[in-house]
Amino acid sequence: MKSKDKTVKGFSKKNKDKKLQWIAEEYHSDPEMMIQTLQSFEHYNTSVQKILDSFSENTIANFMMPFSVAPNFIINDRCYAIPMVIEESSVVAAASKAAKFWMSRGGFKAEVPGTEKIGQIHFSCALDESILNSFFESSKEEYARSCKDLLKNMENRGGGISSVELVSFEQEPDYYQIRIAFETCDSMGANFINSVLEKYAKEFIKLHEQKFGTESRLQIIMCILSNYTPDCVVRSEVSCPIEDLGDIDSLTALQFAYKFEKAVRIAEIDPYRATTHNKGIYNGIDAVVLATGNDFRAIEACGHAFASREGRYQSLSHCKVENGYFKFWIEVPLALGTIGGLTQLHPLAKISLEILGNPSSRELMMIAASVGLAQNFAAVKSLITTGIQKGHMKMHLFNVLHQLKATEREFKLAIDYFKDRIVSHSAVREFLNSLRPGQPEVEKSSHKDHPQ
Ligand code: MEV
Repeated sequence: MKSKDKTVKGFSKKNKDKKLQWIAEEYHSDPEMMIQTLQSFEHYNTSVQKILDSFSENTIANFMMPFSVAPNFIINDRCYAIPMVIEESSVVAAASKAAKFWMSRGGFKAEVPGTEKIGQIHFSCALDESILNSFFESSKEEYARSCKDLLKNMENRGGGISSVELVSFEQEPDYYQIRIAFETCDSMGANFINSVLEKYAKEFIKLHEQKFGTESRLQIIMCILSNYTPDCVVRSEVSCPIEDLGDIDSLTALQFAYKFEKAVRIAEIDPYRATTHNKGIYNGIDAVVLATGNDFRAIEACGHAFASREGRYQSLSHCKVENGYFKFWIEVPLALGTIGGLTQLHPLAKISLEILGNPSSRELMMIAASVGLAQNFAAVKSLITTGIQKGHMKMHLFNVLHQLKATEREFKLAIDYFKDRIVSHSAVREFLNSLRPGQPEVEKSSHKDHPQ
């Protein structure tokens, strides 16, 4: 590693090899090893690699994540095998288990009450609000007409602008926003919405200045879609007669149902628990969102805002035990697309969608919400019965055994040995050493003992 000024000019203009070389020499103690390692993750097919490189600036390698499948998801009477991209070891196993559990109890019932998205033109204006309002109302149609070309394709697909309103804020008297609601069909619609907003704003300024000159000091502050989409929401539910739950661990079906209901209730009233509870839900949702090339940051940001919509952060899922029935459901905003963005460009996102039968965006919303609910069911189920560590420890054991290059026989013996013991990196190492007398000791690695 060289010790000198580590800043760089024109980095983005260097080719990929030069970037890699520079970063390795400046920021790594073993540049050759680093270059070799990163290059080993290069895709063998140069045209695929080109596509991957085109997604971001300054790419130096591919970052691999596990691409898994959770089978047996019955959603609205249709069976799905669900692609999931996630690094947390117990997530896919938990989703699959919950899917199997509900498979024989009617599966998931999901619906999409609405798919409306919002774009905003934020502006300041010195005009009296009532004058601004009547001018805005009188010219509304004309602004929309100026976006005709941009809207044409979307309108042909059944989407477009569904409503426009002028919004003011008491806290900021000279600030207004034009809030436009859109239907974007099977695309997430970010580019479409942002393009329409910018065009709309231009026409708004033009007509405004024609009428009021520059006197009113109208200034467009920004045009951007909102990632808060409380009207692009999906609901998924599982339910069954309580006795159909069966005895679970040491709990009877009824005890389980009430304990589960209480655990969800805690997440409804306590933000500390709600955050962890919802994190579990997004373990599932994010994994589907990533696998299908959608934007998980937008999905999470929106979900957490939605969870706070009553002024307090709460659980996104709910449970009711009544009239002999156990009912567990989720309501969550999910602005997902199945066309546009990376969804068809990323070769694996495309495959994910194919595995799902090329769903519409509504169908994908129902799938992702059901996986979130399944994940949540699995997490709460183990929390209120065996505790979460049992499952986590098993996956952790597998990971450590893989890292320490255990043989198939050693795997089997270790699974048996660690059935009732705490798994740690050092304990697994010691166990493997005990199985390999006379052989060089299994080396310590820098790996942490904690499973997450
Ligand atoms: C871990 O990734 C997720 C859980 O903490 C969720 C929960 O507590 O409900 C197990």
